[in-house]
Amino acid sequence: MTDNGHQRPGLFVTFEGLDGSGKTTQAALLAQRLRAQGWDVAETAEPGGTRLGAAIRALLLETDGAPVSPTAEMLLFFAARAQNVDEIIVPALQAGKAVVCDRFSDSSLAYQGAGRELGESVVLDLDRIACRGLLPDLTILLDIEPEVGLRRASGGPVLDRMHGESAGFHRRVRDAYLRLAEREPRRFRVIAAAGSIAEVGARVWEAAAAELAARVHRV
Ligand code: TYD
Repeated sequence: MTDNGHQRPGLFVTFEGLDGSGKTTQAALLAQRLRAQGWDVAETAEPGGTRLGAAIRALLLETDGAPVSPTAEMLLFFAARAQNVDEIIVPALQAGKAVVCDRFSDSSLAYQGAGRELGESVVLDLDRIACRGLLPDLTILLDIEPEVGLRRASGGPVLDRMHGESAGFHRRVRDAYLRLAEREPRRFRVIAAAGSIAEVGARVWEAAAAELAARVHRV
């Protein structure tokens, strides 16, 4: 991925984290707050943010337990991403809007690259094809212990196969996220997901407000 984030209009914020980290709630809250600041906001999600993405998500939901090849799974997530990028994200950014996206390529790096152990380089190859250098301005990583997240997410709309993965899988995903955040400290904010919705929301807003202030200075 290349950091071209500040040569284009708009604001691109992504939310990342384990299942049960509260991303979806916090993404909606941030969108609301950005609107209150006068931003026109496009909200989207991966894999299900477009019609095609929702169909791909349904394909992956796998109720009958039939095995899905890790590579096929990765390609499906990237097909959903390519559609999201072309249909929603890039047009919104070009129109100067803020885009708040629940999961993006870092999910594939963490879940497919590390969790499924496909490695980072193949994920980055696909990212180059699907996203063509598009990188978030700000990535909020809601960090949570896998055991706590899984307990919170139980009964929620998580993909069954991910949910049923081993403790080792979820730990690899979390560690990969933390490594990504360490590698790109300017783009990532690691926020503890523990606490009330309002408490976590305040931490998220602090990070977003800092990014907005920094952008004003960069212009
Ligand atoms: P979903 O219920 O759609 O959303 P969420 O858990 O974010 O509320 O489930 C998405 C699942 O798919 C989740 O377990 C993470 C996984 N996933 C990947 O493995 N790779 C990806 O690239 C994406 C976008 C998601």
